[in-house]
Amino acid sequence: MRRIFLWAARNAWLRTHLSRWWFVRRAVRKFMPGETLPDALGAAEAHAASGIGSVFTLLGENLTTMSEAERVADHYREVLDEVAARGLRAEISVKLTQLGLDIDAEGAYRAFDGLARHAATNANWVWVDMEGSAYVERTLAFYERAARDHRNVGLCLQAYLHRTPADVARLLPLTPAIRIVKGAYDEPAEIAYRAREEVDAAYAAISVQLFEALVRGQASRVILATHDIRLIEQLARSAASMAIDRSRIEVQMLYGIRFDEQRRLAAAGFDVRCLIAYGTYWFPWYMRRLAERPANVIFALRQLLP
Ligand code: FDA
Repeated sequence: MRRIFLWAARNAWLRTHLSRWWFVRRAVRKFMPGETLPDALGAAEAHAASGIGSVFTLLGENLTTMSEAERVADHYREVLDEVAARGLRAEISVKLTQLGLDIDAEGAYRAFDGLARHAATNANWVWVDMEGSAYVERTLAFYERAARDHRNVGLCLQAYLHRTPADVARLLPLTPAIRIVKGAYDEPAEIAYRAREEVDAAYAAISVQLFEALVRGQASRVILATHDIRLIEQLARSAASMAIDRSRIEVQMLYGIRFDEQRRLAAAGFDVRCLIAYGTYWFPWYMRRLAERPANVIFALRQLLP
């Protein structure tokens, strides 16, 4: 089932046709407050009341022209301005293909560089999402350059990839900020763990590697981006044994998933943020969410009922 949804995520025909079906549009609302920036800002303001910060991401990937990429960068500048004007505790997270990495890598770097500078004027941060394995090496090299130029930039790494512990070691001289996720793409067994227990074990080991770096001052931020409460609690115990204060343990989850746990962790003193995705290009992203959890498929089908 997971593989079917991940295949659907890459299928342009399905994207064009299925995303018009009313019950699919209704079901996606579980994971997105809406398609526009005001929808996302409204959700962030509601979360702020529960002590939960936000990360905004405009859905979209693999653009075909640099003018589209420039519009994306302009949009994110507007997001950063709105965040500052509303006094929100909110950062942004971008996909490099959405900034034109496939079309003009230097142009994509200029766009990212501009965003990092813009964010810095309000002491804010820009995060880089990690896409499928074909992009990992380029994304790492891009981040290495960005981390030399800016202190307010972070990178997402995927625990399911065999290479990730070595990538962490490679980045440590730059005092990186890392968001660690399990990984959302359909990767072959030659390069990625596929069994759940193996992915979880890799996630725990990489997080401990990052906590140790945090203690030594070799990492600036470590973010546990997962809904896996058992893993978060296990890692919180590891962090406590290393004398890392709870307020330095950052946890991020997606909008619409385990909000009760987001609230509970925030109330318990963890630094919690919710990643709010929005935009019209939601189909591949939504398929990846369905791939993660079969129960979401049943939820989608239930939307057929009045
Ligand atoms: P896992 O899939 O084991 O789920 C643990 C539990 O959480 C499940 O048992 C279920 O209860 C709940 N859960 C998980 N997913 C759910 C869903 N869709 N609906 C309802 N409940 C669900 N990936 C990537 O490749 N590149 C990236 O840049 C990012 N960025 C990113 C940012 C943030 C803030 C988050 C939270 C996640 C990502 N991801 C990502 C996605 C990540 O790789 C992964 O696919 C999902 O987080 C799901 O895995 P979990 O870690 O939650 O564990």
